[in-house]
Amino acid sequence: MNLLKLTVENFRVFHGRHVLKLDVTDGKPAVLIFGMNGAGKTTLLNAFTWALYGTFTGDVEHQDRIINDRAWAEAAFGASVHAASRLEFEHEGALFTVLREVRAVKASEAQDLPRPTLAVTETRHGESIEVKNGQDRIEKILPEGLRRFFLFNGERMERMFTGDGAGDVQDAIKTLMGLEIIERAIGDHLPAASRKLTAAAKKLGGGRLQQLADAQEKVEQQKEAIRRESLKLSENISAYKREVDAASKALLENGQAAPLQKRRVRLAKELEQEKIRYQELQEKHRRALAERGFIAFTSGVDQTVIDLAEGMRKRQELPAGIQRDFITGLLEDGYCMCGTPVPAGSAGHTALLERLENAGLADVQARWMNLRGNASRLIDARKALLEELREISAELQAVEARINDLDAEETDIARQLKGVDVVDVQKLEDRRKEYDDKRVEALGAHRDAERDMERMEEELTRLRRQFRAAKVEDAEAHRLQRQVALVDEVLEAFRRILDVRTAEVRGQLDARVKGVFSRICIKPFTPELTPDFELRLHATAAGPAAIRSTGENQILGLSFVGAVSEMAKKIHDRKQKTDEANLDEGGIYPVVMDAPFGNLDIEYQDQVAESLPQLTSQIVTLLSQSQARGRVLEHLQSAASRVYVLRSVTSKEDAKEQTITINDRAVPYVTRGDFEHTVLEEVSL
Ligand SMILES: Nc1ncnc2c1ncn2[C@@H]1O[C@H](COP(=O)(O)OP(=O)(O)OP(=O)(O)O)[C@@H](O)[C@H]1O
Ligand SMILES: [Mg+2]
Repeated sequence: MNLLKLTVENFRVFHGRHVLKLDVTDGKPAVLIFGMNGAGKTTLLNAFTWALYGTFTGDVEHQDRIINDRAWAEAAFGASVHAASRLEFEHEGALFTVLREVRAVKASEAQDLPRPTLAVTETRHGESIEVKNGQDRIEKILPEGLRRFFLFNGERMERMFTGDGAGDVQDAIKTLMGLEIIERAIGDHLPAASRKLTAAAKKLGGGRLQQLADAQEKVEQQKEAIRRESLKLSENISAYKREVDAASKALLENGQAAPLQKRRVRLAKELEQEKIRYQELQEKHRRALAERGFIAFTSGVDQTVIDLAEGMRKRQELPAGIQRDFITGLLEDGYCMCGTPVPAGSAGHTALLERLENAGLADVQARWMNLRGNASRLIDARKALLEELREISAELQAVEARINDLDAEETDIARQLKGVDVVDVQKLEDRRKEYDDKRVEALGAHRDAERDMERMEEELTRLRRQFRAAKVEDAEAHRLQRQVALVDEVLEAFRRILDVRTAEVRGQLDARVKGVFSRICIKPFTPELTPDFELRLHATAAGPAAIRSTGENQILGLSFVGAVSEMAKKIHDRKQKTDEANLDEGGIYPVVMDAPFGNLDIEYQDQVAESLPQLTSQIVTLLSQSQARGRVLEHLQSAASRVYVLRSVTSKEDAKEQTITINDRAVPYVTRGDFEHTVLEEVSL
């Protein structure tokens, strides 16, 4: 996807029509748009999302007032007024125009707008067609699930991975890498086929087959009911969490409760980190045992090996050379040890010759020495393992104690808050506690449901196996039975493929996030994308979880976005070369980011400004003058194909007119005019 042009008309702060050209030249992937507070940066980002998906980002207020206030006010009653956002882009050899528009006949001063309309046009070889189901087409080009990676607000970046975000991130990545197609086959298509065949076979097969198919059906229904319940539970968990957050926020805003609540928030954060640390330690413990645990049981065996080897060496039983001489002697004598004659050509003679040739003989001594060496190394390894396990246990204990302390402190704060002699505070605290209890309870129920589903899945596997193995007389039923077996096999193969591919994608993304992050962050923090696609940050490569600041969260988010777009691009390039279309999804995606520097320090801004343009082939950046100074501005400008200014026009008499310096030229930034609005102006470079 390659963005070409965005046209907005009477869209929120924009009065009349404004055009933003987006085509960039090679090596200069950036389009920079400067605007002061309220000029319309977030509005422009939303002009992209509204055109593509008909929605705004969460931070936009009064989302129903799409038409520019002035345009609405100017219109006579009964006249038609409209707002539009039109995005033109190129994708896989075709030109697309996406036009979203809302048109209303003015009947009152307040905007009462109908549903916006969408028109998508596709042009190939000069021929244009109206795309029938435009939204579906857009969904195929840039799925809405991916928009968090490609159209986003840098200030809100840190929320990308917290709370409910993680699951969405996993889904979005799966979409991007084409894994979700396999997932759908496993989840829907193949089981449906299997069910249909099973039902048909059951009718013909009778008896045992019928009984098994019925049992299978019953478990499947139970599982489906639990799945639905589990879904409902996770929705509830999110809803309860929102209530808890809202109450916490209100407590923070209350003068008397604020200090206690602040401490609690800090505690909760610490508690979360400690719990993660606890899990990590448990995992480390588990891994040490799984990989090296056996060493603990070799105690004694290794000493025996050493003693044996030493003994044989001392008794000179080992040197292989002597044994060779001994056999040579027997051959020359023509008699075996037991007195049997072994003349040349006899079976015994041949056997002895073979022995003599056997290279193993010469090896024996070396092998024994080797074994002896390994045995003594095992003793060292056992000592080290025990030491390590002891350390982990001590650390686990310490973390556990710390968790208990924090828990106790939290309970104490809750008690103190309850004691604050203000009705509001008590109510809020009660509410917070009520929903937090509900949340914890729902979490438990959710875990139980997941476990039940696993159990049922095992039961289903068992029933299917029995179904496949059941004896059937009817030939047609037998044929269907074999087909069920085939579908099950394919299903199993797809499951394996999904596992492998998911692990692969995770591994690659993990490596990339690490790379991009270390380019930007000055601390030795190491990000990790867990097998559940949760993004974590460690203080050092193998160390505990890092306590991250808002800015560090942002860098983490940026690294992730960068890694995702880098990877999508790489897959796309490979696809071009090898023509393996449909194998992977991938693709080139533009990045549109509002306030890319959010809370970042100047030092980080500098690194980010340098790294961003390397991540993707087109990057539209919306920022204010204060967000880009000195080196940051230099970096950005040197990567820019186009620069725009959102000139704020104000009607305020005493407002100071302002300019912004771009390429050593003063460009109007704030000017006076008849009414409040914004003008989008390109600055020639
Ligand atoms: N329907 C509308 N008509 C006129 N102005 C509107 C309309 N809807 C929103 N606005 C104005 O648009 C401005 C919001 O712009 P926006 O949020 O895009 O600013 P921004 O450049 O992102 O600012 P900041 O730097 O503070 O994030 C506000 O001043 C708001 O009053
Ligand atoms: Mg903004």
